[in-house]
Amino acid sequence: MKREASFLNSSIGMKVIMAITGIMLVGFVVGHMAGNLQIYLPAHDGVRPLDDYAVFLRTMLHGGGIWIARGGLIVATALHVWAAVRLTKMNRDARPVAYHAPVYKASTLASRTMRVSGAILAIFVVFHILHFTVGKFTPFEEGKVYQNVVTGFQVPWVSGFYILAMLCLASHLRHGIWSLMQTLGFNHPRYNDLRLKLATAITALVVLVNISFPLAVLFGYVKLS
Ligand code: HEM
Repeated sequence: MKREASFLNSSIGMKVIMAITGIMLVGFVVGHMAGNLQIYLPAHDGVRPLDDYAVFLRTMLHGGGIWIARGGLIVATALHVWAAVRLTKMNRDARPVAYHAPVYKASTLASRTMRVSGAILAIFVVFHILHFTVGKFTPFEEGKVYQNVVTGFQVPWVSGFYILAMLCLASHLRHGIWSLMQTLGFNHPRYNDLRLKLATAITALVVLVNISFPLAVLFGYVKLS
């Protein structure tokens, strides 16, 4: 009984950590997508709004702002992964004898593949930072963010990889948002439908806008000068 109570407490604790860090990561992804929308704005006085925005990010709070944001993002990601690993281990330990065949009760493909989609997203983020922040894989010029994004997405395999990663993000984000709302108490059966609609709407917005960037470049709608 005591063992059960402590399992429940720490399992809930892990879920709350996942939910709070999940909100921070969703916030980043939505904000990042909104900032990147400036790729569609025309240049004024020869300056691309996306490049201006990058300068703002690097200079806000005397250059400290971006490091505060990066620090928060790194801590949130580390805690999110740590809690996911602990939760998986707790669930396994609570059932020492494995099921003969997997039992999929009230679960979806997205919920069963959260660890796989999460791992693919982690690989994507490492690739993405090496690509657009460090300047690997495609032509790169420091500070020319608009130009780097266009020349990057002009390479079909790069665009293809981003689009696949965004499909993975769709699966992870929709189940993640749905599940974090449940953890935070928004779990009355009356709200189930609303929860799913909200998770689907946020996910569709982020993923469709993100996919539009490589497609707009590949089809020549967004181009250099
Ligand atoms: C097609 C969609 C995306 C585009 C066009 C895009 C574009 C960019 C660009 C241009 C940068 C470099 C910004 C700069 O140097 O000022 C960047 C950085 C970054 N992006 Fe994205 N991004 C996309 C999706 C994502 C997604 C889905 C995630 C997270 C899951 C993400 C996470 C990051 C991170 C962590 C950085 C590094 C921020 C930093 O510390 O400077 N991006 N992105």
